[in-house]
Amino acid sequence: MSYQSHPKWLEDAIFYQIYPQSFYDTNSDGIGDLAGVIEKLDYLSWLGVNAIWLNPCFVSPFQDAGYDVADYYRVAPRYGTNADLTRLFKQAHRRGIKVCLDLVPGHTSIEHPWFKASCRHKRNQYTDRYIWTNSTWDGGMPPLKFINGFAERDGNYAINFFYSQPALNYGFARPNPYCPWQQPVDAPGPMATRAELKKIMDFWLKKGADGFRVDLAASLVKNDPDSKMTIKLWRDVCKWLDQNYPEAALISEWGNPSEALQAGFDIDFMLHFGVPGYTSLFFKGKNQRCFFDSRGGGTVCDFLDEYLKHYRKARKGYISIPSSNHDMPRINNRRTNRDLEVVFAFLMTWPGVPFIYYGDEIGMRYIRGLPSREGGYARTGSRTPMQWDNGKNAGFSLAGAKQLYLPLDGRKNRPTVLDQKTRPTSLLNHVRRLIALRKKSPALTAKGKMEPLFAKPAKYPFIYLRQRGREKFVVALNPSSEPVSAPIEAQGLNNLNLEMGRGVKFASKGKRITFLMTGQSYAVYRAG
Ligand code: NOJ
Repeated sequence: MSYQSHPKWLEDAIFYQIYPQSFYDTNSDGIGDLAGVIEKLDYLSWLGVNAIWLNPCFVSPFQDAGYDVADYYRVAPRYGTNADLTRLFKQAHRRGIKVCLDLVPGHTSIEHPWFKASCRHKRNQYTDRYIWTNSTWDGGMPPLKFINGFAERDGNYAINFFYSQPALNYGFARPNPYCPWQQPVDAPGPMATRAELKKIMDFWLKKGADGFRVDLAASLVKNDPDSKMTIKLWRDVCKWLDQNYPEAALISEWGNPSEALQAGFDIDFMLHFGVPGYTSLFFKGKNQRCFFDSRGGGTVCDFLDEYLKHYRKARKGYISIPSSNHDMPRINNRRTNRDLEVVFAFLMTWPGVPFIYYGDEIGMRYIRGLPSREGGYARTGSRTPMQWDNGKNAGFSLAGAKQLYLPLDGRKNRPTVLDQKTRPTSLLNHVRRLIALRKKSPALTAKGKMEPLFAKPAKYPFIYLRQRGREKFVVALNPSSEPVSAPIEAQGLNNLNLEMGRGVKFASKGKRITFLMTGQSYAVYRAG
């Protein structure tokens, strides 16, 4: 990772995000575990992914699915032991797969011993580890939210998310002189928190982790409207990481690539929050359909205009467009496999580092209306058990159905890995072929340059060039069910050879190539 350089391995990395609760349960308690991840490594190798992002797997009361850590240095017993995690690193590395953990630097659980100590009346080592007002009658200062009446200590604590996630104290960029409890970034309390953060990273990197996805990375320094001090803090962490673990990757959940990459992260996501654009690709807006909607009516430009702003500045790292994740509806939220094939043709040929959320590769559905589990609420429907085969509980677990972490997709024809593996035309095999094509084609990997060739407001298709050195690809996507045609400049694009695709023809005439595309079609051409 780093501000100066980025691990080489990221150039052709394809991440697979694992929500450990729901991946594979080997001890029949209804909850996935690390031994389960290890058992499924061969599947990941077969699929062709070469990196894992594992959602938090540390000791926690699980009021927010593990994003409420109670011990950063110990694996939650329900997932296994520290030795199991080390075994996962080793086994993954043997197959050429990297493993990145989820680092939650912004807050802990209220169950964390640091927080319990900081709740005490008597001053101690952890008094300044969190953000507290000086009196229970001081309600704090928006936009921070505070919880009052919780502790013996006379004060209210700031939270980052749920009431059970007290904000760790990294200081305030501009402490308000009327709020003496707002400490500057370089005060002893904030500096001790920062030192502990490095210690946690060091602990897991030493054991073999390949990096971290960093939760709410932009949230650390408070009252920092232009993120300057947060950027500075991360640069300091990155410098340390560079010196000690130059091959470690740092991936931010920041949602603003220009800022995050400046801060030294190797990768930042475009997401359903942060800078706009991502949602216009995949989610219906108030008065607007998304671009990947077979009914048409979307526009790729809302995404592309924003993306290009960041992409042009992103010489220092990569922007990722995830297939979905544990915080948003799955990509298969009322989509068909035909729709999803076009979506994956986009995701696997786009610059930056792709992230596939477990189950998206077989088109697992977002399940509506589930009761919340572990603080999931509307997110719960994206967190259901992986569907491996047609055996008990879809091969996820041998526990009784009632014991499962979450119920399975109840449909008879729910997609499974086993079924799709054997069908050459399945979504799974489609994704696998795209991954293979990407990995063997430098122009399609993270660093290959991207240039739009046809992208017009409220129009389909979307056509773009990928290029690295002399290798070039043209990718054409028509997610809408209407046939469309579009011209591009032919210059430099001789001999288009179809690598993968369906329903696309082209005609060259003089300086133009015109693409004729049926509904829901896509093509990836190698330009000779
Ligand atoms: C972002 C995580 O992805 C989400 O699941 C969590 O609830 C919040 N951060 C708070 O940690």
